[in-house]
Amino acid sequence: MTSPTTTDSKWWQEAVIYQIYPRSFFDSNGDGEGDLPGITEKLQYVADLGVDAIWLSPFYTSPNKDGGYDIANPRDVDPRFGNLADAKLMINKAHELGLKVLVDIVPNHFSSEHAWFKAALIAGPGSKERARFHFYDKKDDGTPPNNWISLFGGPAWTQVADGQYYLHLFDSSQPDLNWENPEVDQDFKETISFWVKMGADGFRIDVAHGLAKENILTDHHDPKGLSDALRIDVDMEISKREALLASVPFFDRAGVHEIYRSWRKHFDSFDKPIMAVAEAWVHPPVNGVAYVRPDELHQVFNFDLLIAPFDAKTLFRLVNNTIEMLKDVGAYPTWAISNHDSPRVASRLGAEEARALALFLFGLPGSCYVYNGQELGLPDAEVADGDRQDPSFIRTKGETKGRDGARVPMPWSGQESPFGFSSGKSWLPLPTTWNELTVEIQSSNSDSSLSLYKRALSERARLLSAEDFTWDVSRIDHGVLGFSRAGIQVYLNSGDKSVKLQASELILSSSSAPTCENGELELMPKRAIWFKR
Ligand code: NOJ
Repeated sequence: MTSPTTTDSKWWQEAVIYQIYPRSFFDSNGDGEGDLPGITEKLQYVADLGVDAIWLSPFYTSPNKDGGYDIANPRDVDPRFGNLADAKLMINKAHELGLKVLVDIVPNHFSSEHAWFKAALIAGPGSKERARFHFYDKKDDGTPPNNWISLFGGPAWTQVADGQYYLHLFDSSQPDLNWENPEVDQDFKETISFWVKMGADGFRIDVAHGLAKENILTDHHDPKGLSDALRIDVDMEISKREALLASVPFFDRAGVHEIYRSWRKHFDSFDKPIMAVAEAWVHPPVNGVAYVRPDELHQVFNFDLLIAPFDAKTLFRLVNNTIEMLKDVGAYPTWAISNHDSPRVASRLGAEEARALALFLFGLPGSCYVYNGQELGLPDAEVADGDRQDPSFIRTKGETKGRDGARVPMPWSGQESPFGFSSGKSWLPLPTTWNELTVEIQSSNSDSSLSLYKRALSERARLLSAEDFTWDVSRIDHGVLGFSRAGIQVYLNSGDKSVKLQASELILSSSSAPTCENGELELMPKRAIWFKR
């Protein structure tokens, strides 16, 4: 069976895409880590949510120094996740259930365990093997080729035995690739073709804005400031941050667009529509538009909402800017409020706010990404320092706590941790309090976060492709933001007082549904509702 939307070449424009973090989804073999057969087993659950597609974080061969974003062989499956046959079965099953499949592609770097890097170490300075990476001699004073700081902390350069240094924007086990070398592009196109042949319908491009580097042998005037500006957990005066981020020598350089124009031709060469979404944290956000010009990629993540407060004015500004900006290139927006790199939205904003924000966003035009566990309202888990695995925790010697709290496995069923995730010891412990949050418990409670997501996604179908999007900002000073689309009103209240809205029928409420009486309903603080006038 093929999905009903297989022939729809623009299926992704308004799609809801469910992000699966394979290590934390479902463990089928009791080794304490999620795996591909585990995902296959739970795909019915995913399809029942009412999403259109899944995106899987990397499951490729990897020493796992950065949660699999350190890839030793992008065209094979790491044994702890299964094998290629398991990947094929998983993709086929997803298609049977009408789900498209996006896989991650990580073009900024390989793992230091990749055959190319091992060969580069052996071949030595000046070799064609080293020319696939950024190897340089030290400066005359013996220091690294420049003063850039890794995004995970510490220097962005590591020295090898013969004295040369190689560049790594992330962990020292993730050497950056040299995209000026055509061999690199050729290899990635092969990887893309490989996964398309395996059945993938698209790609999420990791660090999409990082491939082209400029002034690689020049020191940055404020490396520490730049490094802080790039970290969302560091507070900084906005003007200072903007000034530093306006020109980052290794991000959002003009050269990346040439790469994506060429990739787009490759995507379009297959006999089914292949889409790609860019992970591009760029500044100012309007620069993101360039990635989705008609001859480049299909979507670019919008990360504003991952850090935005629950505040109607801010939400209006960010959402409206995004919609308006993208109109220039005819692209659709993407909305994400959680992912494997950020604090979970229920912890960052609060449980009620997280539900309200999700319901509000599901009404908007564009595509919504839902990170596994977000539908359950999972908070970040407390992770003991001894259990932490994020390289940023290790490289900053604990100064940055890292992202493990958002990567704790899914609670499926039962009363005892690890709540059906694994029959063994889970790689990160699930908090005992998650007994209230399991899929099993929430499935039988119509007021649960899970039930809300399912209802909202089913109602959302009515809004798809509706052109008549209109804002109502008349009460924004009281924290109330609304819009209407396809005859449905969607409102959110970030203020501290209830407001009355003229309504004939309530469709959805993010929590404790208000009753509709005498043509009015009450929208309480921290709530979102969908209704008809
Ligand atoms: C972004 C990924 O989402 C993150 O998990 C990873 O650590 C970095 N890119 C480096 O690949």
